[in-house]
Amino acid sequence: MNAPKIPHLDVSIVDKAISLWRAGELVAMPTETVYGLAADATNGEAVARIYATKSRPQFNPLIIHVADIATAKRYVEWNAMADALASAFWPGPMTLVLRKRPEARGQRAVSELVSAGGDTLAVRIPAHAIAQQLLAAFGGPIAAPSANRSGRVSPTTAQHVRDEFGDSVKLIIDGGPCAVGLESTVVDVTGDAPVVLRPGAITSKHIQSVIPSNDGIPLATSQSGTPGQARGDSTVSLKSPGQLASHYAPSIPVRLNATSVAAGEALLAFGPAQPAGAIQTLNLSPSGNLIEAAANLFAHLRALDIPAHRAIAVMPIPDDVIGAAINDRLMRASARD
Ligand code: TXA
Ligand code: MG
Repeated sequence: MNAPKIPHLDVSIVDKAISLWRAGELVAMPTETVYGLAADATNGEAVARIYATKSRPQFNPLIIHVADIATAKRYVEWNAMADALASAFWPGPMTLVLRKRPEARGQRAVSELVSAGGDTLAVRIPAHAIAQQLLAAFGGPIAAPSANRSGRVSPTTAQHVRDEFGDSVKLIIDGGPCAVGLESTVVDVTGDAPVVLRPGAITSKHIQSVIPSNDGIPLATSQSGTPGQARGDSTVSLKSPGQLASHYAPSIPVRLNATSVAAGEALLAFGPAQPAGAIQTLNLSPSGNLIEAAANLFAHLRALDIPAHRAIAVMPIPDDVIGAAINDRLMRASARD
């Protein structure tokens, strides 16, 4: 699982990737698991562009990729379990879910869109030499889901990424075929014991060899009552993904497709014209830009979610690609009991 220590990417390509990231653009990057569609995790619009490019109809939280543990610690509350697992398996095909640090001191914060507004953040140090070289040069967190269109299989060669996206991704870095070929194991270490949220090349046996436990390492399932796949391990049921703690849900009612505002309501506006009378108004995008709206969604929802407001009235949002993901999130927020 250890990375080859000698990076082999031409400096001019590294420079190009870093400039594109700094400009909020996407770069397809090889990792040892699968190719990632990578963007600056601190730039909300760049992260929104990932969802738009993948045509992902939902905002699932994304993994941030960093060069080293010191960088990870700037963004998450590190703990003893993380330390044990990271020492054993990083760099490598394992992602740790940890609590977000309340503020990343002296750093630009990771966009709320990366964690889908939640209080936790998934982080990993990939073992691929090129990924390491790029991350070290960038110096900050890179959000990267698998570089495929939503619903398609994950790419394990640069050609797969080209087939998926053609010219719509400006730079596709060829690092050869991925050695693992399967997405990283996602391990939640926010509780008393590690929970595997997504199985991968690092198995619960590997995890147990580092953090011994009598009950085995539970494998979380997204369907209630479905037994876990890991034989002999207990299972933790997480109901539905929308109920995961990693997804933010407002605590006050959310009213969709609002064309007027009722007494005591706050307004989540979209576009240049808006109804009057709101107790507080935040605009997702005054110019009606859906990428900007997605970048602002979770931060604005949180800001309006205060007990003094009777509800959050949300103006209609167009339902094309990333608008559909925004509407999916808002629909789930409004459908609470
Ligand atoms: O191998 C990999 O992990 C690849 C390469 C590119 O690094 N990346 C990848 O990312 O598979 P993505 O976004 O396709 O998958 C992220 C997974 C999802 O299952 C997501 O639900 C979970 O990690 N995840 C991300 N953040 C989370 C969080 N805060 N809490 C719980 N699960 C989280
Ligand atoms: Mg994927």
